[in-house]
Amino acid sequence: MVRKITSLGGYIHEYQKSVENPKAFWEQQAEDFYWRKKWDNALEWNFEEPSVNWFVNGKLNITENIFERNMFLRKNQTAIIWEPNKPDEESITLTYEELFRKVNQFANALIKIGIEKGDRVIIYMPMIPELAIAMLACARIGAIHSIVFAGFSANSLEERINDTQAKLVITSDEAFRGNKIIQIKNIVDEALVDCPCVKNVVVVKRTSGKINMKDGRDVWWHDVIKGLSEENESVEMDSEDTLFILYTSGSTGKPKGIVHSIGGYMVYSAYTFKNVFQYSDNDVFFCTADIGWITGHSYIIYGPLLCGAKTLMFEGIPTYPDAGRLWEIVDKYKVNQIYTAPTAIRSLITYGESYLENKDLSSLKVLGTVGEPINEEAWHWYHDHIGKGNCPIVDTWWQTETGGISISSLAGIIPTKPSFATLPLPGFQPVILDNNGNELSGRNVEGNLCVKFPWPGMLRTIYGDHKRCKETYFSKFKAYYFTGDGVKRDEDGYYRLLGRVDDVIIVSGHNLGTAEIENAINEHPLVHESAVVGYSHEIKGQGIYAFVVCSELSTGGEEGIRKSVIKGVTKIIGPIAKPDKVQIVKELPKTRSGKIMRRILRKIADDDFTNFGDTSTLLDPELVEIIIKGRVK
Ligand code: WTA
Repeated sequence: MVRKITSLGGYIHEYQKSVENPKAFWEQQAEDFYWRKKWDNALEWNFEEPSVNWFVNGKLNITENIFERNMFLRKNQTAIIWEPNKPDEESITLTYEELFRKVNQFANALIKIGIEKGDRVIIYMPMIPELAIAMLACARIGAIHSIVFAGFSANSLEERINDTQAKLVITSDEAFRGNKIIQIKNIVDEALVDCPCVKNVVVVKRTSGKINMKDGRDVWWHDVIKGLSEENESVEMDSEDTLFILYTSGSTGKPKGIVHSIGGYMVYSAYTFKNVFQYSDNDVFFCTADIGWITGHSYIIYGPLLCGAKTLMFEGIPTYPDAGRLWEIVDKYKVNQIYTAPTAIRSLITYGESYLENKDLSSLKVLGTVGEPINEEAWHWYHDHIGKGNCPIVDTWWQTETGGISISSLAGIIPTKPSFATLPLPGFQPVILDNNGNELSGRNVEGNLCVKFPWPGMLRTIYGDHKRCKETYFSKFKAYYFTGDGVKRDEDGYYRLLGRVDDVIIVSGHNLGTAEIENAINEHPLVHESAVVGYSHEIKGQGIYAFVVCSELSTGGEEGIRKSVIKGVTKIIGPIAKPDKVQIVKELPKTRSGKIMRRILRKIADDDFTNFGDTSTLLDPELVEIIIKGRVK
């Protein structure tokens, strides 16, 4: 049983213990799991290299901790509730035993295909039960899963496949998403033209739409599992073997394959799940994220299932068939904890409260948010209209890199304050550094959010590029992990996140590197150069504003370029990276040394024309006025 803190005093005590003796604290948490062989040393670390090893030489399999360990108590208990895209299609419930059998059977299929311990498997799928089964089956046999959100383009998928050198891709024929059907197998086919590493593709039949199956490469899921045993002996893994790779955008062009290892991630995802959401046996937990993001990994699959929870997986979107869908699901399954993104809340607010009528939300006990700061208006609406004033809100701050929730209130235990993530989880040691790397202790300070001690869920490296891992996270401030976020600690010691301090923007809760979008825009034959910045957007949190310099205009004039730039980005990265505004400019404002002055562009994009700061280094100060005049409103 994963331990649960039950009072504020308990939190303070645990936090203190976790800082005074982190090894002993995490050993105590790790004792709650099943290890085939116990670790020799809880932690060995060095942030300079960086090298972080938790539960050194411990041997285990994470699925044994989900299944065998839970089986005695929870054999017939629900593990996954699956709600389809269309409300009138039948939902699916899998008990721990049923899920276990399916995972074993697919694990046997992976072995039959020739997948071995350490091989990489790309999963590019809609939110259907087979996605959960596929990832757990990989973990069962020691293969490394890398899930790519099914909204990414063929180009982005190809980049990730080649970076991991995956042998296998798992996908489905098509995907339902609201009233759309997405041809995802076609996208896989397009990506695979340039991926010689991939030997096989397993395809789940979801829509029965017409697709091409390539002889010798593609197999149907239902065919490959036919006749295979529902028993499988899990492979013994080392605590520090890789569990998964998950890509996230960085401030330079190429996405980073964040590597998480097994032992530490297991302990951290389970501990944070239970404590932040105050999960009790038989509660129904509903995280609305897609499993293609870290939130889905840690809080739809690993955290809940390790705790023997009932976890709800939803295939569709909050606005289909109408803006009451999430609340209908809460009512239908008597959901106790819901975990979603501020952007979803803001979007639902615009539809009005009529969608809440006749929905019984009284089962709700905890409301969670993640992915970006939650503004006060959204916070109050969530609190008043969804929680009816009775449910604590946990505003959870964390990152793909941190593996699990890192700064957050524990529901009902740490008093909340709108727009504050509040306090760190036990075992997580944040510090605030000024730009010179000095630690700002005490209250009422603001600066760069860093961490000074390892926690079990942290990233271990960037796949295939340890140097980049060191440079990105451990070099700006020596011997600290740097999050890339700005933060303030107020007079109560509470943390309030202030947004990214690098060139990453957060659009509808998704991280996007501005450089990656610029690279995609620059592929356009008429584009000479571009600069992308974020601006405040009422629903998305941040919108994407692109300033584009063209060598000449196309036949469609400026409008034609705008359209084709947007189309190009959608094709190269995916619809999530589509610029909201494209302004064609004669030149970009640059310093004499040729650096683009992004600070100025950010202000223009935000319609803020005051305090441009020091513009004396600008090569052509008049340019700014021209850009302001031509801005897209
Ligand atoms: C931002 C998502 C403010 C932050 C789990 C972080 C937040 C980035 C919050 C990581 C929050 C996430 N308040 N900002 N509660 N949660 N962020 O990797 O900038 O997709 O660095 O992980 O999202 O996004 P990622």
